[in-house]
Amino acid sequence: MKAPACSEIHVWLLKPGEGASSRVWNVLAQEEQRRVEGCRSTRTREAFVRSHGYLRCLLGRYLDKPPERLEFLVNDHGKPRLKETAENQGLVFNLSHSGGFALLAFALDTPLGADIEVVKPRRNLAGLAEACLAPAELDRWRSLPLEQRLTEFIRLWVCKEAFAKATGRGIALGVSAISVGSHCNGFESVPNPYSPAAAWKLRDWAFESCRAAVVYRGAERRIKIFTIRDYLEEDALNGPASSRR
Ligand SMILES: CC(C)(COP(=O)(O)OP(=O)(O)OC[C@H]1O[C@@H](n2cnc3c(N)ncnc32)[C@H](O)[C@@H]1OP(=O)(O)O)[C@@H](O)C(=O)NCCC(=O)NCCS
Repeated sequence: MKAPACSEIHVWLLKPGEGASSRVWNVLAQEEQRRVEGCRSTRTREAFVRSHGYLRCLLGRYLDKPPERLEFLVNDHGKPRLKETAENQGLVFNLSHSGGFALLAFALDTPLGADIEVVKPRRNLAGLAEACLAPAELDRWRSLPLEQRLTEFIRLWVCKEAFAKATGRGIALGVSAISVGSHCNGFESVPNPYSPAAAWKLRDWAFESCRAAVVYRGAERRIKIFTIRDYLEEDALNGPASSRR
């Protein structure tokens, strides 16, 4: 499987129930398996095993390395990267999960952030919007018909969170300081250390009951979307990466 070219972002989508966790349990590191044991619900456990398991399998395929031997480092805010790479260099990735869905994004040599959220009713949506949206976003959001406000809030949220994850700071960055543009595929403003806003590219889309977004820096890239079935079909032809050596 070819790693993303410099002009591409690869996005892999995993639906609930797709790609059994038992297939990928063995590729997890001991520390990851311990984290799974700490998960309270079966659902969270499944989601963790599938997203981290397929993350390893896909990285293994791209790098032609056994997935179970990959090692990761995290930055001060918890963002993981491959141990052999410097931050935002070489093969970069980011993962997100929500309600059994997972999104795995990969690219070369750029800060990269990804977020997926199931669109489901939130308590006190108006209060959340006030706390999280930038003033221009809030004005536009309030002008929408009531029935569009939930989906639009989640759309804005995933764009902001994908940005916060691209910077590596996470939501501690302050989501209301990130303002999503009204029409273009980008941002109107971003917190100072990361400006100019125009340097960042944003792609967001609807996927089943979810909204999803990826954010990266630099020139426009082609987003290639795959489903985990594409991986499983290749796996069936070639055999799992871990058994090929
Ligand atoms: C990262 C963060 C945005 C996750 O939000 P979320 O909606 O719960 O989770 P998502 O499913 O979208 O993403 C989680 C994944 O993002 C990645 N991630 C973790 N921290 C990250 C960061 N700072 N930036 C980018 N990606 C991060 C991990 O792969 C994580 O997967 P895991 O939780 O299964 O290990 C949020 O928890 C956060 O802001 N964390 C930073 C907190 C912090 O600064 N901690 C420092 C000391 S307490």
